[in-house]
Amino acid sequence: MRIVHVSAECYPMAKAGGLGDVVGALPKYQQKIGQQAMVVMPMYKTAFLEKTSWDVVHKGDAYLGDWQFNYTIIQEQSGQLGYPLYLVDIHGLLDRPKIYGYKDDTDRFIGFQIAVVDWLKSWKEAPDVVHCHDHQAGLVPFMMKYCYAFQQLASIKTILTIHNAQYHGSMGWDRSNLIPKFDAWKRGMLEWDGCIHPLASAIKCVDKVTTVSPTYMRQLKYQSNGLEALFEYEQGKCIGILNGIDNEVWNPDTDPMINHHYHLENFEHEKQKNKLEICTKFHLDFNKPLIVFIGRLVHEKAADILPGAIQHALDKTNCGANFLMIGAGETPVESALNYLVQLYPGVYNTYIGYDEKIGHEAYAAADFLLMPSRIEPCGLNQMYALRYGTIPMVRDTGGLHDTVIDMGDEGGFGIRFLNANEADVVHAIERSIEVYKDKPKMQQMITDAMSIDHSWESVVNTYQSVYESIV
Ligand code: GLC
Repeated sequence: MRIVHVSAECYPMAKAGGLGDVVGALPKYQQKIGQQAMVVMPMYKTAFLEKTSWDVVHKGDAYLGDWQFNYTIIQEQSGQLGYPLYLVDIHGLLDRPKIYGYKDDTDRFIGFQIAVVDWLKSWKEAPDVVHCHDHQAGLVPFMMKYCYAFQQLASIKTILTIHNAQYHGSMGWDRSNLIPKFDAWKRGMLEWDGCIHPLASAIKCVDKVTTVSPTYMRQLKYQSNGLEALFEYEQGKCIGILNGIDNEVWNPDTDPMINHHYHLENFEHEKQKNKLEICTKFHLDFNKPLIVFIGRLVHEKAADILPGAIQHALDKTNCGANFLMIGAGETPVESALNYLVQLYPGVYNTYIGYDEKIGHEAYAAADFLLMPSRIEPCGLNQMYALRYGTIPMVRDTGGLHDTVIDMGDEGGFGIRFLNANEADVVHAIERSIEVYKDKPKMQQMITDAMSIDHSWESVVNTYQSVYESIV
């Protein structure tokens, strides 16, 4: 099968979050089971772009409203990623350093999608499946089906994977001139809530909708930022498939970003060495449990409750644990987290920013990973943590529900709490401090955690059966 993934992110070319990790790994494992999977994404000006060699494979032109633009498709030359990676270069529109955050993001991603569909039209052998990820690729199915210029693509099967239904990409009808001429009777297939709505349009137009965990799929029917009724109505074509992780990149036994490698047999000593290093680097107390947070400091991840909860927990337990907070995001949250550094020297520190290496070092060093997320479609960090023998402390939602069993339950290896609020986080911290003292229990939980297999190998087969159900 020829599968074309269309996405705004793909690691290592460009990543803002888990979407990039997933789109960077899924096609590699699809190739391993014999599929011809590939990725097409915008050409941003990233470090990976500069240091990689590219071949030009196609040149074309199209219209974005009144603006006639030229686009170029380039392909990564060496094949080092394990799948073909294609970039869409639209000069002046996409070739910028950041992925998102420009005033004209709507135009940028519509332009990207028009170029993708226009390019697909020129293929001698059409793909079997066009697999779109999130709203930045959400107009592709509509364009393939209902825009006059792309009619020859109308019978190709399409899939939407939702990594986060909080973001919709919606815009007013005044922007409809940006979309290539379409059958006006099909206006309804673009619309939700009186807007042009890329995510809703994709849900309506595709053959299958997947999201990144079964629990999140269920939750979308009552919590999806206004799309609840649509998910209820379209539930017949919806399925939740838990993400995998790239076990080659995330392997504590070979990870080039960490100093002391370990596996199931020797983690007791070797993981401790990583802990000692990070505790020294961030002036923390090696003898106390180390709890880390790694992620975007945003409302969705409930980062705003962390400063209060940590302060409360440190006071209540007489500084019974260490905290290292890693991430960037909303300025008030960053400031509140930084403020605590002076209040709790020796047991609390922050790294405001995003650095892949520090992330890996933290998974390898920490005893616990805290994820109080309000919304978590899948969550990859808890799976990385499990692989590195770091016990996840998670709010019971979305993919966190599907991947973490509380230590109080049979077969449990983690800590799960019900609400994204201070009281529940404080209680979870107290439980972590308690269990940390129980060495045999900790060893058992670490062993159980590290033995869990969340690799893509098994997940790709589930995607494969979804493709087969429609092709
Ligand atoms: C988004 C979600 C996250 C998920 C990731 C990959 O970033 O917020 O929960 O793991 O996409 O699908």
